Amino acid sequence: MAASRETFGGKLAAVLAMAGSAIGLGNIWRFPYLVGQNGGAAFILVYLVACFVLALPIFFAEAVIGRRGGGNTFSAMEKLAPGSAWKWMGLITVAAPLLLLSYYSVVGGWSVDYLFKAVTLQFTGDTSGIFERFITSTWEPLAAHTVFMAFTAAVILAGVKNGIEKFTKITMPLLFLLIIVIVVYGLTLPGSWKGVEYLVRPDLSKINVNVIATAMGQAFFSLSLGVGTILTYASYMRKEDNVVAAGTYTALSDLLFALLAGFAVMPAVFAAGIQPGQGPGLVFDTLPYIFSQMHGAGTVVAILFFFSILIAALTSSISLLEVGVAYLVEEKGWSRKRSTLVLALASWALGVLCSLSFGPMAHVQLLGKGFFDFLDSLCSDWLMPLGGLLFTLFVGWRMSKADVRDELTNGGTCNKRIFGAVYILVRYLAPIGIAVVFLSNLLL
Ligand code: PHE
Repeated sequence: MAASRETFGGKLAAVLAMAGSAIGLGNIWRFPYLVGQNGGAAFILVYLVACFVLALPIFFAEAVIGRRGGGNTFSAMEKLAPGSAWKWMGLITVAAPLLLLSYYSVVGGWSVDYLFKAVTLQFTGDTSGIFERFITSTWEPLAAHTVFMAFTAAVILAGVKNGIEKFTKITMPLLFLLIIVIVVYGLTLPGSWKGVEYLVRPDLSKINVNVIATAMGQAFFSLSLGVGTILTYASYMRKEDNVVAAGTYTALSDLLFALLAGFAVMPAVFAAGIQPGQGPGLVFDTLPYIFSQMHGAGTVVAILFFFSILIAALTSSISLLEVGVAYLVEEKGWSRKRSTLVLALASWALGVLCSLSFGPMAHVQLLGKGFFDFLDSLCSDWLMPLGGLLFTLFVGWRMSKADVRDELTNGGTCNKRIFGAVYILVRYLAPIGIAVVFLSNLLL
């Protein structure tokens, strides 16, 4: 895909690829547990604002740079600002996706393992403690992580177009359908309405700097921003495609999916009397409980569900690997095969440490956090906002307004009325907002 600078087949293909990158474990696994840790509905409220005021402008900024610059971060920046230091931003966009991929693949592995558990009928009896036992063990999560990383590398090696794109067209709608089935079923469980209340009735006193920073980080994580993914994908978009529309559709479907996941998980959490604030294990504890309650149908739904999660995770993990591969192929002249294998292996090795940090290496702490949590926080609380801030500053202040207008309105043929508002978001609101949250996060 990268070497010959192909373009996506059309607007739909571009939106699907971007939505495929955006919708993933961030929505199904990360969003529900962050809601649970950060005060329920109040977090969702802040998240909505973060999505549209801070995250969406970054999407536009990355898309402008990618499509106009026509390449990976290094070459795009070099083309748009020749001889400047901006191209070194490419370093963030090579390192961050690989760091992210390392722990993303560990969680991707959890879904591989759960698919296996579903197929072997392990969600039929008492499921309590199932996640704790799995995660603290050594070999099972490591094997699953290895399988997931191998899948990711295989797809990138085989090329994205014919495999995963076609596959995604079927499985993404299936995932939506299944999650709705689970939402509806969850709502019939006794005691589930407390969970609904938790999601819709905000307690504003819960909002603090930490909650705002976490919501911002999650918006960036969920929309795949600040690490060059959207930039790279936008470079494969055709000139006549509307990037503002693509961004808006991607953000809306991503948001809808996260909310559905929240409604699939929280009511069941309350019905089961599980603690909503327990962290990364939330979904992997709760869903098996729901499936075990569904009796016969539970196994079928569980298989389809974890299969779909796996696909959703894969369409995101390949976008993480593609950024680094595009860089090595285009800038260093490496073959696609060599780039893929080297990067996947490096990421896998880091992932091993992440996986072990729940069990045998739990005592190894970096800045008070286990390795997995440390990498997650480094990426979503720091690197993604930093990348996002720099992208908006570049488009808002380094590029000429005429060029930005040309790119966002496709030479004046669309979005003419909203360009002014979009530009203000990119030039002022988003960078100021990100900088404020960043600084307060640093100082408080
Ligand atoms: N957005 C993806 C998810 O929600 C994760 C991701 C982040 C993918 C950054 C690519 C780049 O699962």
